[in-house]
Amino acid sequence: MEKTPQTALLAPAEVAYAAQLLRAGQLVAMPTETVYGLAGDARNAEAVAAIFKAKGRPAHNPLIVHLDGTEAAEKLAHLSDQARKLAEAFWPGALTLVAPLRTDHGLADSVTAGLPTVALRVPAHPLARALLAAFGGPVAAPSANPSGRISPTTAAHVMAGLGGRIAAVLDGGPCPVGLESTILGFEGGDAILLREGGISSEQLAAVLGQPPRERTGAKITAPGQMLSHYAPQANLRLNVTKPDADEIWIGFGPECAGAALNLSPDGDLDEAASTLFATLHKADLMAQPIAIAPVPDHGIGAAINDRLRRAAAPRA
Ligand code: TXA
Ligand code: MG
Repeated sequence: MEKTPQTALLAPAEVAYAAQLLRAGQLVAMPTETVYGLAGDARNAEAVAAIFKAKGRPAHNPLIVHLDGTEAAEKLAHLSDQARKLAEAFWPGALTLVAPLRTDHGLADSVTAGLPTVALRVPAHPLARALLAAFGGPVAAPSANPSGRISPTTAAHVMAGLGGRIAAVLDGGPCPVGLESTILGFEGGDAILLREGGISSEQLAAVLGQPPRERTGAKITAPGQMLSHYAPQANLRLNVTKPDADEIWIGFGPECAGAALNLSPDGDLDEAASTLFATLHKADLMAQPIAIAPVPDHGIGAAINDRLRRAAAPRA
C-alpha cells in the first residue's frame, strides 16, 4: 500500500527541528503576525518549486522573501533612502518592500518569477523570527493556502488546506494582525501601493509625508491584485444590513447583534482584521451563501474591504 503523506504539527519548542526541515529542502508553514506563510529555502530551486506545487500557484506569481533584519535585505536588494526609512519605521512588521535585486543575490530565480525586483519582509512574530534565526538564511513564504482560497490565520486552517502536501506546520496560535502585509513598490521617487494590508495608508503617510500613490494602469504587478482571490466556496454578498433567509450573515459592530458570526461585536477594526479570514473559513463550512455587513473604510478597514471585494468577485 502506498504510504499516506503526513504533515507534522510542531509545537513552538520544536523550532530547531523546523529549521532542520528547511535546510533539508522541505516546506514548513510558519506563523507570522499577518497570516501563516508556507516557508521554504529561497536559495533552493527545488524547495521553491515545491512551494508553487503545494499551493497550485502559477509560476509567474513571485514570492515574498522573509529575512531576520534590514542588513539581510540590503545584501539581496538595493534599498532606496525612502525604502530604508520605511524599513526603519515598520520592520519588523506587516510591510513588504519591493526593491531591485543585486546581481549576487543567491536566490532561486523562480522566487521572483524572473523579475528584476524582489519583495522583502522582516516579520515580527516571535516564532517566525526564531525560525529565521535558527535557519540563518532567506525564506520564501507565500500565504500557506491553496492558491486563490482564503488565507490561513491558524495552524488548523493550514492543515485543512495543505495537510498531506507539506512536511510540517509550526503552530503559533492565531495570527494577531490577520491580514497580509501591505506591499509597496517604488517608481521615480514615489512609493506605490501594490497591496493594501496590515500597515494602513494613514500610518505610511505619517512616515512618507503623504500617502503612497495608488497604482495606475491595468498591469498586474502583484497577483494579490487579481480580482477573484481569498474566495470562499459559497457566494458572498457585501454591505448587507438585511440578509436573506438562506444566507449566513457576518456582522460588524453592535448593530448586528442578531448575526450568527460577527467580525467585531464592539465595532473594532483591528479585531475585525484579525478575525476576518477565520470567520470566512467558518462561514464557508455552512455550504450556504454568505452575506456580510458594511465595514468602515478607514485605517485597516481599507484592507478589510479590499479582501472582501476580492472574496466576492466573480470566479475566474
Ligand atoms: O503577510 C504576508 O505578506 C504573507 C506572510 C506569509 O508574510 N505573505 C503573503 O504572500 O501574503 P503571498 O505570496 O500570498 O503574496 C505575495 C504578493 C503577491 O501578490 C505577489 O505577486 C507579490 O507579493 N510580489 C512578490 N514579489 C513581487 C515583486 N517583485 N513585485 C511585485 N509584487 C510582488
Ligand atoms: Mg496569498
